[in-house]
Amino acid sequence: MSNIDIKSKSTKERVMDILSNSQEKYISGEDISEKLGISRASVWKHINNLKKEGFDIESRSGMGYALKGKISNNLTPYEIKKNLNTEFIGQNIEYFETIDSTNMYAGKIANKSPEGTVVIANEQTKGKGRTGRRWISKEEEGLYFSLILKPEIAIVKASFLTQLAGAALVSAFENMGIDAKIKWPNDVILNGKKIAGILTEMSAEIDRIFYIVIGIGINLYNENFDDEIKEKASSLLKEGYKVSRKDFLQEFFKEFEAMYREFLCDNRNEVLDILRKKSAVIGKEIYVIDGKKRKKAKALNIDSYGNLEVRFEDGEEKTVFTGEISIRGLESYI
Ligand code: BTN
Repeated sequence: MSNIDIKSKSTKERVMDILSNSQEKYISGEDISEKLGISRASVWKHINNLKKEGFDIESRSGMGYALKGKISNNLTPYEIKKNLNTEFIGQNIEYFETIDSTNMYAGKIANKSPEGTVVIANEQTKGKGRTGRRWISKEEEGLYFSLILKPEIAIVKASFLTQLAGAALVSAFENMGIDAKIKWPNDVILNGKKIAGILTEMSAEIDRIFYIVIGIGINLYNENFDDEIKEKASSLLKEGYKVSRKDFLQEFFKEFEAMYREFLCDNRNEVLDILRKKSAVIGKEIYVIDGKKRKKAKALNIDSYGNLEVRFEDGEEKTVFTGEISIRGLESYI
């Protein structure tokens, strides 16, 4: 089992508790500093950080601080961690209004961060997709986050974590009444169109994993897509669902943590059940694309390691490994 660091409330969260308990009335920096046993400069620093996270906090000289009206979005660490039912996934959150890429940032902080740390952004300016593609990440349109893991497992087992993330995503959607499917190995689709993608990156030596970053992008409220992807991409809103980013993250963290714990104990059964039950490809005629070659095949099953078993038209059967190939439906994206 990896080292799991369970965090208690941070000082910033306790400052936030005091502000929200005083129900929009002003409370002086001195009162807050006394209540928490910290300096006034430290109170000021935490207030500034809370403002950066999107809280509408007003400061008035001689009166102090007051939390005004609504929070600008419900994606702040404070909001997400409130009532979050996990032990370590999402218990340490770094939030950015805008960032180049949550995966890139997670890679930078991974060594010094506890397992389960999540980096979330409202907007990414250099969102990364798989195979060098970009992931368009406009503000308030999607959910962009990266999860840091430090499993003590053999490197060959690491690719299963992408599939585990896919299973946790569709389970979280199911808990919210949305019947999403997995296009093996790592796209989440709804009504035949891609609504979420997973980019897993790893830092390792030949026999040791330092950290794994699982980056997830979900199209939530997009109304339009660029020409190059509009045939195959959609958003939850376009498919008729309005999902709160906070609610979804809480569901996802809970599902992911439960599946990840089992995975660390070498039990992949629940994830495999979901991968098979929610597969968008099993039983379908597909193209297996390997570089420039594309061959028609039938997707038969997902094996106990998460690989896809296919049968080509000439009867040859093959196990396709994650990351080795990509697949397409014969007539549509899938
Ligand atoms: C794909 O190509 O399907 C994977 C897309 C992954 C996008 C997410 S958004 C959050 C995280 N940060 C990134 O730069 N990429 C991932």
